[in-house]
Amino acid sequence: MFKTTLTEAQSRIGDFLTDQMARLGDDRIAEGMRYATGGGKRLRGFLALQSAALFDVPVERALYAAGAVECLHAYSLVHDDLPCMDDDDLRRGQPTVHVKWDEATAVLVGDALQTFAFELLSRAEAGTAEMRVQLVNALARASGAEGMVLGQAQDIAAETAGRPLTLEEITALQANKTGRLIEWPALAGAILGEADPAPLRSYARAIGLAFQIADDILDVEGDAETAGKALRKDAEAGKATFVSLLGLEGARTRAHDLVAEADAALQPYGEKAQALRDLAHYIVTRDK
Ligand code: IPE
Ligand code: IPE
Ligand code: MG
Ligand code: MG
Ligand code: MG
Repeated sequence: MFKTTLTEAQSRIGDFLTDQMARLGDDRIAEGMRYATGGGKRLRGFLALQSAALFDVPVERALYAAGAVECLHAYSLVHDDLPCMDDDDLRRGQPTVHVKWDEATAVLVGDALQTFAFELLSRAEAGTAEMRVQLVNALARASGAEGMVLGQAQDIAAETAGRPLTLEEITALQANKTGRLIEWPALAGAILGEADPAPLRSYARAIGLAFQIADDILDVEGDAETAGKALRKDAEAGKATFVSLLGLEGARTRAHDLVAEADAALQPYGEKAQALRDLAHYIVTRDK
């Protein structure tokens, strides 16, 4: 049931992005943008759609937030995979953008995806003027120097820190690197629904951390082919992760505690939040 709901949302978001990018033509950057936003689990977009659905926001409107966060996320991955960052050749089972084309193309595709995300949020169909300003403001803050970009910089700095990070430091780093882009779509639902964002924020913070713990566990015991990306990179890079700090069992327990926390945060929404509950569970049991 959840798998069907997720699959439907994935193809809906994919179709939306295809439509929205149609006018960009078929030069190399536009092609790279389509390539980089193809596939993926679309968990952030799904989160936007499901959070908005709690407040009966029309899906046609919520798709702009879903599409925007998937573009922003895809940009972060294209840059994350660059030789100067993680130097990865495979993403979502395909050659990374700099491998398929070249590094300059990958930098520019990332840049263009980032601005495209904000363009989508500026569209009249994305919400009232007030909502759109709030969406843009929150996404900019989640993505930039106090959000994802900061987290990426902290992640790189940790590699040369000369000592492994503490659990507290790792948690703070991940909250920026991964957490903020998972929090945004949940907040977007509340903005579009003109609702109190507090319960969704608590939910999203819990699943954001659970998501990264699952990513760290997958890096240790996942199957690279299923994951569609290179694994065993964290230990190789000598990185402190939730697994290196808590052990596999400890990390699993922490992830499951966070799912329970996420579940509790959804209490005000009752039955309507079932897909979000299922999503929390999926996040810690996924194999890719
Ligand atoms: C991968 O994110 C990068 C991290 C933040 C750990 P996802 O696992 O959501 O990647 P896709 O979008 O499904 O490929
Ligand atoms: C990527 O984190 C986070 C962002 C792109 C913001 P990782 O480097 O751990 O992600 P993977 O493992 O390459 O997907
Ligand atoms: Mg990285
Ligand atoms: Mg990486
Ligand atoms: Mg990782």
